[in-house]
Amino acid sequence: MKTYKIALIKGDGIGPEIIDEAVKVLDAVASCSDFDFSYEEALMGGCAYDMTGDPLPQETINISLNSDAVLFGAIGGTKWDNLPREKRPESGLLRFRKELGVYANLRPAVVYDELVNASSLKPEIVRGVDLMVVRELIGGIYFGEPKGRDENKGWNTMVYTRPEIERIAHQAFKIAMTRSKRVCSIDKANVLDVSQLWRDIVTEVAKEYPEVELSHMYVDNAAMQLIRDPKQFDVMLTGNIFGDILSDEASMLSGSIGLLPSASVGAKIGVYEPIHGSAPDIAGQGIANPIATIASASMMLRYALGEIDAADKIDAAIKRALSEGYRTKDLAQFDAKEVCSTSEMGSIIANYAAKCKH
Ligand code: IPM
Ligand code: MG
Repeated sequence: MKTYKIALIKGDGIGPEIIDEAVKVLDAVASCSDFDFSYEEALMGGCAYDMTGDPLPQETINISLNSDAVLFGAIGGTKWDNLPREKRPESGLLRFRKELGVYANLRPAVVYDELVNASSLKPEIVRGVDLMVVRELIGGIYFGEPKGRDENKGWNTMVYTRPEIERIAHQAFKIAMTRSKRVCSIDKANVLDVSQLWRDIVTEVAKEYPEVELSHMYVDNAAMQLIRDPKQFDVMLTGNIFGDILSDEASMLSGSIGLLPSASVGAKIGVYEPIHGSAPDIAGQGIANPIATIASASMMLRYALGEIDAADKIDAAIKRALSEGYRTKDLAQFDAKEVCSTSEMGSIIANYAAKCKH
């Protein structure tokens, strides 16, 4: 029997609660498969800072590099907001992504039919939405030098190099080849030189994928188009900050930010995490939606471990829980048959996933 080594980084806020549910579901699919999981927990974020003085201890990197994949919860919280920037939980996460080299962040936004009424947009606008934000994750303005601040001035630099743009563009085109073969590249080339370079290089790379239709869109227009007519998009290729913003926006098409998973890939070890944050305001209350994390575990099975059947089972189990009317509080506003807690939702999905058929 094959045993996959999974590094678990629960993090802060609701992180531990949602990771526990994902583990429950992973163990459930393992129970009817020919593989198993062994988990090793590692610290990151505010909890790591509290225990070690560093939001990203070296041991966490070592454990992660020594695993088959990393399943990550969420980090951050107001408690650590006033620390010097390099001690803040978010800096730990950015450094982690950089150290692992996971430059491509895949953020699918799918609207479940069962939830068309949960979106703040009209059902006919969101029904059938199925798009993928491909976000560059370890470059751009979150990492560019120089950066800094003094009393009266703060500065960051948005910088992209040719190889950075080429490799993320290749990822986007390859993914588009497995979908409906359309890439919309997002930039602000009407103002930013770095964006004009982005646009030129993406256009060059596109020549290697003649079957894929490439379009370009300014980020402000894209923010508007996502709400006006989201179904026009298939793959949205973005730099780091634009993808951060647009993926949060895209999540609301689906009804809740608690639904969207992500995969950070491009290196030996991938990181699988919900796109949402640590939600300290609801931590410990048992009301967080674990679906984004469970769906991230499914992406891990699919992309990192090649266990497609098991991933399909989890995806089917999530759909079934929703179609039976189970809703966590974030989704319960409109049509809940039953409002359930974080752990009830995890158990329901785990039970369905363990039925061994989909
Ligand atoms: C995300 C988050 C992070 C980011 C933060 C917590 C650093 O917003 O994964 O989208 O900006 O990448
Ligand atoms: Mg974000």
